Amino acid sequence: MDESIAKHRPTSAKIHPLIHNRWSPRSMTGESLTDEELAALFEAARLSPSCYNAQPWRFIYATNNDPEWNAFLDLLVDFNKSWCKKAGALIVIASRKRFEHNEKPSQTHSFDAGAACMSLALEGASRGLVVHGMGGFDYEKAAILTKLPADFEVNAMFAVGKKASKESLSPELQEKEIPSGRRPLTEIIFRGNYHN
Ligand SMILES: Cc1cc2nc3c(=O)[nH]c(=O)nc-3n(C[C@H](O)[C@H](O)[C@H](O)COP(=O)(O)O)c2cc1C
Repeated sequence: MDESIAKHRPTSAKIHPLIHNRWSPRSMTGESLTDEELAALFEAARLSPSCYNAQPWRFIYATNNDPEWNAFLDLLVDFNKSWCKKAGALIVIASRKRFEHNEKPSQTHSFDAGAACMSLALEGASRGLVVHGMGGFDYEKAAILTKLPADFEVNAMFAVGKKASKESLSPELQEKEIPSGRRPLTEIIFRGNYHN
């Protein structure tokens, strides 16, 4: 884990270093991930909490050694393609829109999938891997490419890979390779009701 990230993000309370140092860099080496690394990321996601323990998340991925790699890369908008070509794997995250136990609509399926993605991201951060979420891709094409059943919805994509130095990025991307800021707690926390 890169322990230098936390200093870019001062907090009013001490929080766990893994949470404090997680971030979404873009510089990757192009190396593949080991099967053990991939398994650890997916195991972390698998252990996440979900409404009714429905575990609505699904992860459909291609490594950069797989025949599907170019098609996964091609789902991305050009900006994301420019740095994801050095990823070790690309993951499409989807979730089931109805509960399996009663086929009623789930209000929380994407919330649950998001929680699973955070576990995956934290496991990746603990291993010094890049784990970077993306909404910049063609959602319809992703569903078709992954042969996703109709009762599932595509939520996001993640790029994962081995961290490379900032200098391996283009000058334009190097400028962005810095931990982003956050709203202060006063903007997001309310005691009693939204207007307090
Ligand atoms: C669902 C989701 C979609 C995102 N989409 C993109 C994207 O398409 N391209 C990109 O470069 N970063 C994308 N990001 C990364 C965010 O910009 C980044 O997580 C945010 O600035 C917070 O920074 P941090 O993850 O380094 O803490 C996305 C993140 C999430 C969670």
